[in-house]
Amino acid sequence: MNVIVARNYEEMSQTASRMIEEQITKKPDTVLGLATGGTPLGTYKELIKGYKEDRADFRHIRTINLDEYVGLAPEHPQSYRYFMNHHLFQFINIDLEHTHIPFGKTEELEQECKRYENVIDRIGPPDLQLLGIGENGHIGFNEPGTSFDSETHIVHLTESTREANARFFESMEYVPTKAITMGIRSILKSRKIVLLASGERKAEAILRLIQGELDEQFPASSLKSHDDITLLVDEDAYKKVQRKG
Ligand code: PGA
Repeated sequence: MNVIVARNYEEMSQTASRMIEEQITKKPDTVLGLATGGTPLGTYKELIKGYKEDRADFRHIRTINLDEYVGLAPEHPQSYRYFMNHHLFQFINIDLEHTHIPFGKTEELEQECKRYENVIDRIGPPDLQLLGIGENGHIGFNEPGTSFDSETHIVHLTESTREANARFFESMEYVPTKAITMGIRSILKSRKIVLLASGERKAEAILRLIQGELDEQFPASSLKSHDDITLLVDEDAYKKVQRKG
């Protein structure tokens, strides 16, 4: 596992963006695996800047996002489709037809999971997958206890995840209870994985990821079996590792 410790959130975001730009320059039809949440926002801002400054051309890029809430339509402001359109896609020269996110507003959830896994197999796997990590070690919406063998599936969100995401909703009752997520096996298909973590809130999870064993109760530990993983963290997220080391 390759570890890069950035001084702060800004430096982490710039480094992530540069890694993506390099990948795109090397392979203009790169498939990017993308994530939502607070952590990658800075990376997306930097990528938009990179596009405006001619460092990145997204014309031939395809993207595959990790997950989506069940029950939210693409135009719902808290849906992940809306998030991606409004924080990245609308500001760069990407063809929206080339961007893939599970569709959460459907009764045919099992069918949607199958369709999405087929998308990953047909278009992907991502050359570079960007990942965040939950305080409980989740990746995508794969909560503790998820099989490392899982493909795209429906999850019941834990209370802690719903609480962590409640800040984006009017109140807790509006936070969806289910989501569609790429499974752990689907994520591990990616050629290269870059996991971002910023802030003290993530320090315990980063410590466990670096020093712990493979454990289905800690989904991010599955990444230890991947041969091209980079942890790109800031000093606050790395604090506990440094203290012990
Ligand atoms: P965050 O979420 O980037 O908003 O902290 C990460 C995650 O839960 O995967």
